[in-house]
Amino acid sequence: MDLKLLFPFLILHVIHDVHSSSNQWTVTVPEKISVLQGSCVVIPCLYNYPMPKSKKPLAMWSGFWLKGKKVVSTNVPKFKVNKLYNKRSQFLGNLAARNCSMLLDSVGKNDVGPFHFRIEMRQYKSFSYSTNPVTIEVTSDPQPPVLSVVMNKKVTASCSVSHSCPVIPPRFSWSHPGNILRHSKKLNTWKWETVSTLTFTPKFSDFNKPLNCTVHYRGGKKVTSSTIIKT
Ligand SMILES: *[C@@H]1O[C@H](CO)[C@@H](O)[C@H](O)[C@H]1NC(C)=O
Ligand SMILES: *[C@@H]1O[C@H](CO)[C@@H](O)[C@H](O)[C@H]1NC(C)=O
Repeated sequence: MDLKLLFPFLILHVIHDVHSSSNQWTVTVPEKISVLQGSCVVIPCLYNYPMPKSKKPLAMWSGFWLKGKKVVSTNVPKFKVNKLYNKRSQFLGNLAARNCSMLLDSVGKNDVGPFHFRIEMRQYKSFSYSTNPVTIEVTSDPQPPVLSVVMNKKVTASCSVSHSCPVIPPRFSWSHPGNILRHSKKLNTWKWETVSTLTFTPKFSDFNKPLNCTVHYRGGKKVTSSTIIKT
């Protein structure tokens, strides 16, 4: 087929897709998130609604995260959220941009959910996305960090963990002094990786000795990995 003929077809197809996805009550959230007890989680959330027939622009969005009938978090100022979640939750999303993300801190054994999102649009409609709940798997034991060492003239050791709390990422401590750098990156919509890198020039007495990396998670849990520095 001639490319000139194919091209308008492709454009129409793309427009049709965008249109249909924005014309329904849909929400994009993970079904299940794994969170370390005591730590925090940012629940990613994007929502959609059918286009209103009226051309009048929408201006007021009230978003609620619910557990059953308990309000866990909202963007409505001064709204009294359930006391179990008061001061632990924060509504992060920009509802005008269809973002309904929420932060929950100090996650406890009872925070498994299921949680769901509800939107209320003053001049339009309201909808509870209760068929797309989010559950949290609360783990009590943190995974030990992955520790690796590269030896050149210097020792470069990397200590890496994944977690759900980008706002308060884990801290690291090393059993040997040196130059320490930390950086985080996103692994998926809710999971992050934070890596601490230690660099130092080894002395003879450092060889065949353990090098330890301890991870201190939000909430106070910590776990150590150990390796031996070899020549
Ligand atoms: C939604 O908002 C959260 C919190 O501000 C932000 O981290 C995230 O990147 C936003 N998602 C999108 C798709 O814009
Ligand atoms: C490093 O870890 C090893 C094994 O867990 C432990 O025996 C040792 O005391 C630790 N050393 C330091 C300096 O923390």
